[in-house]
Amino acid sequence: MKVTGTIRVPGDKSITHRALLLAALGRGVSHLGGPLTSLDARSTARVLRQLGAEISPLREGDVVTVRGRGRFRPPGGTLHCGNSGTTTRLLLGLLAGHRFRATLTGDASLRRRPMRRVTAPLTEMGAKFEERGGDGLPLTVRGGPLRPIRYALPVSSAQIKSSLLLAGLVGDVEVDLLEPGGRSRDHTERMLRGFGFQVSERDGWIEFRPGGRVEPFDLQVPGDPSSAAFLVGAAVLAESGELRVAGVGVNPTRTGFLRVLERMGAPVTVSATDTGFGEPVGDLIARPAALRPTEVTAEEIPGLIDEIPLLAVLASRADGETVFRDVGELRVKESDRLGLIAEDIRAVGGKAEVRGDDLHVEGVQSPPRGSVRTAADHRVAMAFAVLATLPGARVAIDDMACAAVSFPGFPRTLRQVAAGSAG
Ligand code: S3P
Repeated sequence: MKVTGTIRVPGDKSITHRALLLAALGRGVSHLGGPLTSLDARSTARVLRQLGAEISPLREGDVVTVRGRGRFRPPGGTLHCGNSGTTTRLLLGLLAGHRFRATLTGDASLRRRPMRRVTAPLTEMGAKFEERGGDGLPLTVRGGPLRPIRYALPVSSAQIKSSLLLAGLVGDVEVDLLEPGGRSRDHTERMLRGFGFQVSERDGWIEFRPGGRVEPFDLQVPGDPSSAAFLVGAAVLAESGELRVAGVGVNPTRTGFLRVLERMGAPVTVSATDTGFGEPVGDLIARPAALRPTEVTAEEIPGLIDEIPLLAVLASRADGETVFRDVGELRVKESDRLGLIAEDIRAVGGKAEVRGDDLHVEGVQSPPRGSVRTAADHRVAMAFAVLATLPGARVAIDDMACAAVSFPGFPRTLRQVAAGSAG
């Protein structure tokens, strides 16, 4: 396969969620250019409309307008968060500071995901929760006045961190947080600073101080590096050519996968400039490479948490054994991603094993052949679709439609890249 040309990816999922949530809290109209319009982004827009925001339809290519009312109003019915953990956990933080009851639920995958990781510290801040699904959804929150919190997170997680920072914002209280491992994505901190809040770092603690004000804003959302990673992966596996993925967010807390690719012998060229809320954006230029194995350390994991399915399928083509250390968090993603990645690599003739919380992947040379089970996990589906572009591959993926959770049109975009006809 030869790759050529330039391609764009949909807007960043994390930034789109945060921009919608914060715009709904501004008093007036915000404009979002290039936001993600996928199922997950629509889940955030849908629940925010139930809470009183007016949001124009999320359609590819349209600027989305959000008219916020300063505060949320009590919702008419249950807030259905679809497949989106980010929607649920960040919203729980915001609702913790609102004096009404709201019930949240989601699809079968989301209902199984742990919520006590946010409800425990939010309870410490003064919010009340009624569980109906154990440590999962459905869940009812009753918010109210909040107390400050100084809290060491059990895992490095941008969702926990953002939930508590947003609670501090609506509750007008100080929040100090410590992440145990490497740094998770910091989009919330950057946006809060943009609104004049003080978010600083001292002795490893992230310290939020009230005092800013959420005003309506205009934002151009960069392309999602997590979506770009799949196309970069396809270019790395190609036989010749070069692929440019244009306009991608390159915030260093999101680009850990580029550092790992470099160690694997596949350096990606990055050109970056700054955009709104201090988020750097740039073009990624990827080329085919013979892959070497590497060790991905525990410290690196938060900065590439969503790219592990893709890096694991690339590792399954490297010349030796790659180890991903301390990736237990993958068990509570959209699926038990840890077990599933290993199972699916083996299902297509590769070698992979989970030992404790580590994932070991040994490269093979034979073309991948077999049937992949996705458990409706978008990133697992996309990672194996990339592997299936190898010459001689015969890979059946049980559900490609789930890619629409984060990357609308992914199968078409990948076909374009694999046909060497991008841009
Ligand atoms: C996200 C944080 C990550 C990531 C998810 C999006 C966010 O989850 O896996 O896709 O937007 O904050 P965790 O914070 O649970 O690791």
